[in-house]
This record gives sequence, structure tokens and C-alpha cells, in this order.
Amino acid sequence: MPRIYLDHAATTPPDPRVLEAMWPAYTSTWGNPSSIYLEGQEARRVLDEARKTCADLLGVSTREVLFTSGGTESDNAAIRGAAAAAKARGRGNHIITTQIEHHAVLHAVEQLEREGYRTTYLPVDGDGVVSLAALDEAVGPETTVVSIMTANNEVGTIQPIAEAVRVAKAKNAKVIFHTDAVQAAGAVDISPKATGVDLLSLAAHKLYGPKGVGLLYVRSRTPWQPLILGGSQEKERRAGTENVAGIAGLAEAMRLAWSEADERNAHSRALRNRLLYELPERIPDTVVTGPVDPDGRLPNNFSCCFRGVEGESVLLALDLADIAASSGSACTTGSLEPSHVLTAMGVDGDLAHASLRLTVGAGNSDDEMSRVLDVLPGIVERLRALAGGWQGEGG
Ligand SMILES: Cc1ncc(COP(=O)(O)O)c(C=O)c1O
Repeated sequence: MPRIYLDHAATTPPDPRVLEAMWPAYTSTWGNPSSIYLEGQEARRVLDEARKTCADLLGVSTREVLFTSGGTESDNAAIRGAAAAAKARGRGNHIITTQIEHHAVLHAVEQLEREGYRTTYLPVDGDGVVSLAALDEAVGPETTVVSIMTANNEVGTIQPIAEAVRVAKAKNAKVIFHTDAVQAAGAVDISPKATGVDLLSLAAHKLYGPKGVGLLYVRSRTPWQPLILGGSQEKERRAGTENVAGIAGLAEAMRLAWSEADERNAHSRALRNRLLYELPERIPDTVVTGPVDPDGRLPNNFSCCFRGVEGESVLLALDLADIAASSGSACTTGSLEPSHVLTAMGVDGDLAHASLRLTVGAGNSDDEMSRVLDVLPGIVERLRALAGGWQGEGG
């Protein structure tokens, strides 16, 4: 039986067209883009073209795009770089984020807290939507950075980023607004002109591109200072010889994601909706986590909890049945702590330990969804019986 891959939020299989776009940078245009001779200039041309593609797709200027090693670096660079630059200008030292960010944001903010910054972690409602009232209340004259993700990696909740930017800047026009768009890219309009964000993070490997490469959008004139110091690459904003092949792959992955967005999202939505509507019917006491409204969550995301089972056991049983799934966050796998996202949404500890995330992608088929819908009820029933016989709510 061929395996079924349902963890596209963790990473996506590279598109052969992306690999094809990367190959010349390994075989012919492999020079160092900082070198002045022909080989270097050829590599520089690849880099310039890739930057132009990414900038055009985002609707921004090429000067505003810098390439990084992925989502984590972009998030760290955005938050640390903006916080430090704003503080150096005497603007204050208060940073606001949400309780449901990826650890790439949360741990960066927690580190700044240890370094003396004041921090606020905004609450979310039961669907994982951030409270704009809490944002409005939190922003003050000392607030320098607000970081709110465009869409959540565990439960797929899409945030009202344009409104959040308006709320934050109405309270303090100097606020620097960052969004982690790593999961949202390709599924939601993330163009900074549409939302008004100053900083935006993106990673290629969530878009059928290579791992270890991403970008950070920095709006011109945004107070910001580099995270990685060394050579003068990226106009002295990100040192280190550029990953030319990876960057060419990122540009091609973004080009394909943008041009094929309608088909990809319709395909994902149709498959995901089968899970969203049919799984709770087939498995008693399935609690869907994240918005039940399919438009409130990423089109490829389904997440739920099965009361009375351990999420890890479901994952292992699914793996044995040749289905790759996740408990929600790759970072909490193997940890005894329940997901911070589910906890922030008010999901109780026991239930949060029984979480499952299925994220579909371009290569999945309707037949595969049928197989998952056939296999999963038996797995949950067996595990509930092993755990002492789950009797249902109140049983
Ligand atoms: C929302 C979000 N932000 C950041 C990251 C980190 O990206 P990377 O793995 O490219 O460092 C991820 C990866 O899962 C993510 O889902």
C-alpha cells in the first residue's frame, strides 16, 4: 500500500519544477555572487532575478526583500532586529505577540524578556483568533514591536492581520508590525500592501521548495538592524555567502504557489472538508480544534482531539497504517507538555494530549481521504478500548 503523506504543514515534498530551477546553480552558475569575475556575476544575476520574482509576487520593492535560512531565522531577525533598532532610537521597549505563535517567535520574544524588554502575550478565543480588543488595550507609547502570525501552524486559524495593523498603528503610529506568514503563504493574500505590515517572514519548504531558505520582507525606512553579522551580503543586512540554488528554488516555489493558488487551494479545501465533516460523524466524541467555519482556517488544515486517547498513540498507529500525520506541533512531539496553542484556546490538558493534525497537499487524492476515513475510526476505537474503554462524554 503506498504511503499517504498528510503533514504538509511540517514540510512539503519538493516540486520537480523547483528542483529543475535549482539545478543550474549547482552545475553552471555556482560562483560566489560577491566575486567580480564572470562566474560571480552569473551567480549574481540568478540572485537578482530571484529577488525580483519574490518582490514582484509580494508587490514590494527588491530593496525590501532579504534572503534568510528559513522561517526561524526570519522570525528571529524580524523581532530582535526591530526591537533593538527601535530601542536604540529611544522609542521604548515593549513587545507584543500572541500566545499561539510558533516557537520561532515565542522563544525570541521570551529571550528579549530575559534581556529586559517588557512583553505582552495576547490571548485568543476558542477558535484561536487573537483578541483585537486586547491588542488595542495593550499598545501604548512604549510599544515598539507587534508580532502576530497570519495563520497558525497547528489549527490553521487565519488572523485578521489588516485589522490588527490598523488597531495597533491607530494607538501608536510608530509600532513596527511583523507577521509570520510561513504557513499562510500561497493560501492567503499576504501582500504587505494589502495588510500594512512592516516585516514579514516566509519559508520555501512549506511551498514545495527547498528547506533552509526563506525571506524576510523589511518595509523601507523601518527601524531594523541585522541579526547575522559578517560580510556585506544582502546590502549588509544578512551576512554569509548566499544560498543561490536555494534562493532560485524559493523564487520558483513562490512563482508556482502564486500562479497555481486557486487550483491548489480548491483541491486542498475539497479534501480537507471531507475530513472536517466526515471524521466527526464516523468517530464519536471528536472535538474539532480551530474554526469549524472552513473559511476561518487554512484550506489544507484539519485538526481535532479524540477524548480518551493519547495523540502519540494515534500517530504511531497511523504510521503503521502507512499514513504520516502530526499531533499538531512538531516541536511538542515527544514532550509531555500539551500544545501551547490548544491550551491558549482553552482546550483542557487531557484533551490537548489527544490532538491530531492532518494537513493535505497537492499530491493527495480523494481516494486517500477515503482510506484515512476508513482506517482512523478503528484505530481510535482500539486505543480507547485499551485505555480502559472510553464510554463517551459523561460515561
Ligand atoms: C508558523 C511557522 N513559523 C515558523 C516556522 C519555522 O520555519 P523553518 O522551519 O523554515 O525555520 C514554522 C515551521 O513549522 C511555522 O509553521
